[in-house]
Amino acid sequence: MPPQTATHVLRCVYCGKVQETADRMFRCTQCSELLEAVYPEWASAPPEFALRLKEIWRERRGSSLPENASGVWRFRELLPRVERQHIVTMCEGNTPLVPLKKAARELHLPNLLVKHQGMNPTGSFKDTGISAAITMAKAEGFSWVCCASTGNTSASVAAYAARAEMKSIVLLPAGQVAAGKLAQALEYGANVLQLRTDFDGCLRVLHEVVRKFSAYLLNSLNPYRLEGQKTVAFELMEQLDWQVPEHVIVPGGNLGNSSALGKGFMELRDLGLIQSLPKISIIQAAGANPLVRTMRENGGTELIRVTPETRATAIRIGNPASWRKAVNVLKSSGGACEEVSEKEIAQAKAELGAEGIGCEPASAATLAGLKKLVAAGFVKSADKVVLVLTGHMLKDVDYMKQLPGQSLLGPMEADGDAVIRTLEQIYARH
Ligand code: F0G
Repeated sequence: MPPQTATHVLRCVYCGKVQETADRMFRCTQCSELLEAVYPEWASAPPEFALRLKEIWRERRGSSLPENASGVWRFRELLPRVERQHIVTMCEGNTPLVPLKKAARELHLPNLLVKHQGMNPTGSFKDTGISAAITMAKAEGFSWVCCASTGNTSASVAAYAARAEMKSIVLLPAGQVAAGKLAQALEYGANVLQLRTDFDGCLRVLHEVVRKFSAYLLNSLNPYRLEGQKTVAFELMEQLDWQVPEHVIVPGGNLGNSSALGKGFMELRDLGLIQSLPKISIIQAAGANPLVRTMRENGGTELIRVTPETRATAIRIGNPASWRKAVNVLKSSGGACEEVSEKEIAQAKAELGAEGIGCEPASAATLAGLKKLVAAGFVKSADKVVLVLTGHMLKDVDYMKQLPGQSLLGPMEADGDAVIRTLEQIYARH
């Protein structure tokens, strides 16, 4: 008998109160903190449950059934139980794990890899979470979904809502969203509202909207978002043949992704599929560093909000919703929380690009952070390190203009001799 999927309950991450369902705000009814999905049946599952999982997941990889081809629903034994017909999927997940070469040489880290979540259907890691959460929305009979976003969530929500034949509302900070992301939300037919505020302001307004309108909230304070996003840990471990890396490094904005990644690893450990946790480190832009300051100034007990400013617009967030969950991940895994400057992000992005790995500025923060962690002796030469790249390079092409080392020549005459003369100069320089 294959292991069955389990029923879940929602537990408050702060006071621990357990509830079966949540209202539209996904808050604890006792203390208003965030909730997380937990699966009480796992505690009494027979040992075969965990042992059979690796095999079942591997077998599904060759299947073309939508629920098996999905890099989220393939792991459905560790997800909320849903009816097959409600699953909204576009083959999300299934992203490549690629070794770095130049950066590996320069940092003396022979085992340095990137997990490129930008290779998801809409170009960011959000798709794994949106697939899971919009499936719950469909199962509950909603026809409208909504989110506040720095851009990627809105692109993903718009696309998955279109697939599910639902309507979407997205609130964006006016003038602060990269053009590629805005284009996606519009193309997929979202109702896009640009507000004169930042992401934190959009999320605040969205709370007011959701109280009055029957729209399902798809931001990462929705615990089902994290259930989808945690599957990156499962997929990564499969790709690494279940050998736990010493470090996994992820950028931090609203802190849903780092929380999900940590939850995924902790569940694997608790079920006995892995024996230890990687150190999960979170990197923020120095201009949008509430978690860094919170860890540094009070050890993670009380959030220090900041007014965010960074050209890595995806992580331009000063009041992150999932900060408590992220603190828990840092403490449980022994990871570091580091900040990087705008210059360091740009430099790291250029270096990744120079080895053929394009990504968003926010994603490049991981490499910039890694350099600091190596310099501090926190990451050592023998360690295996995985950088989670969260978004595709084409999301934010305007950022390219400010990168060092560009070589765009011309316009020049369409004349063979002129081109050859230019090439001779280039050859001479190398
Ligand atoms: N990287 C990218 C490319 C992102 O789009 C985001 C968040 C993050 C990192 C940070 O992840 O918020 O879970 O800590 N983007 C959200 C959005 C906020 O609206 O698209 P996080």
